[in-house]
Amino acid sequence: MAVNTLDESLVKHVKDNYADYTYDMFMMNMSADLEEIELFSEYVDILNDKKLYTFEAARSGTQTTETDLSRANGEVVHVVNLSSYNYLGFSYHPDVIKAAQDAVGKYGLGASSSPIISGTYLIHKQLEEALVKFFGLPDRGVSLFTAGYSVNLGAISAFIKPGHQVIMDAASHMSIVEGAKLSGGEMTFFRHNDMAHLEELLKEKCDDFTRVLICVEGIYSGDGDYGNLKEVVRLAKKYGAFTLVDEAHSALVAGEHGKGVCEQQGVLEDVDMYVMTFSKAFGGVGGAVYAKKELVKYINWYAKCRMFSCALDPAVTGGMTKVIELAGGPLGAERRKRLKENAKYYRSLLEGKVKLSEGDAWVVIVHFGAESKTLGLNDYLQRTGLDTSIIQFPAVPRNEARIRMFVTSEHTQEQLKRAADIILSAAAKFDFLKK
Ligand SMILES: Cc1ncc(COP(=O)(O)O)c(C=O)c1O
Repeated sequence: MAVNTLDESLVKHVKDNYADYTYDMFMMNMSADLEEIELFSEYVDILNDKKLYTFEAARSGTQTTETDLSRANGEVVHVVNLSSYNYLGFSYHPDVIKAAQDAVGKYGLGASSSPIISGTYLIHKQLEEALVKFFGLPDRGVSLFTAGYSVNLGAISAFIKPGHQVIMDAASHMSIVEGAKLSGGEMTFFRHNDMAHLEELLKEKCDDFTRVLICVEGIYSGDGDYGNLKEVVRLAKKYGAFTLVDEAHSALVAGEHGKGVCEQQGVLEDVDMYVMTFSKAFGGVGGAVYAKKELVKYINWYAKCRMFSCALDPAVTGGMTKVIELAGGPLGAERRKRLKENAKYYRSLLEGKVKLSEGDAWVVIVHFGAESKTLGLNDYLQRTGLDTSIIQFPAVPRNEARIRMFVTSEHTQEQLKRAADIILSAAAKFDFLKK
């Protein structure tokens, strides 16, 4: 790319003021030149030179609870890992790895075709059956996708057409928003978890639109709180709308048997589309939508990112099938229990001292305010021994940046105590202790 097209004064401005820049500043450009692309590259290089680029740091092994990170500038830091959503530690369970290896031995590396054409293997059917059995409703099936992101993209855009309506929680994950955009339907947002606002919109939209889909999450990925699924389902029934619940952070974990927040709130049977991502508690990659068999058949054909893309690879498919078996047995129950205890313990160390997400979930959010603090803060956290997942504008509203942490069943109390001490020292240094 031709960096010399860039105005040198702009580069100088970034160099002199790098600490005031945030990554969203490079998202816009109305002109034909490639200024934002070149300048962003300069910005990342400057941050690397200043030893402040904490993103994309490479790990040398599995997502264990403590690990070494190699930063892009070559520095290595040792951290407690609260930045990976491997909630039950399944990504490195020996039986899961063995199942993945066996599947590669039998089916080879890739599926080499769309699932609708010739990319469906027997092992895909076994995974589908295992999921249907795990969630337990006989009239349901699953449609497999190669990313959790694609599940929302594909399922929403298959179900909703121009002339239909999608009503989403304002805190919805990007994949839900993009799925709705792709569908061509009209999009409306209700205030986060505000059921009165949802009802107001349903009253208005259900009269005007032939098909209305409400999209919510089991545990909100950016806020760490629970969706009010019971009320969403009640309102959907009252106004004749359909529901999609994204259980990315709660499938296998929430509810007594791991069937998610839908199980916890007693609405599993009432939800039209239940979205799960294999990247979280499943410890793999990919995802699925669990829905009535007729709808699954339709999605299989009309979710374009599934139809026009290669099927899930055998290794992950074999690994995920083993994960369902483990999650449905005593190990799953034991790890779910430990995860909840760990989340409770970790929250108790932070409670009242920083602005913490509500509830008891394993997605633990600490608000720190302006995104201009992100660079220094994340550098400090990593250097003092903690890796977290920072979220900032535009993923969340401006000046509402957050440290997001994923507690797992595998963390020890000592690791969680160490992590909490680091958060509290950062809060004192970067001015986000609760006053
Ligand atoms: C709520 C939610 N939905 C969907 C996704 C996308 O899942 P994946 O990373 O498996 O593509 C995520 C990812 O973080 C998420 O948090």
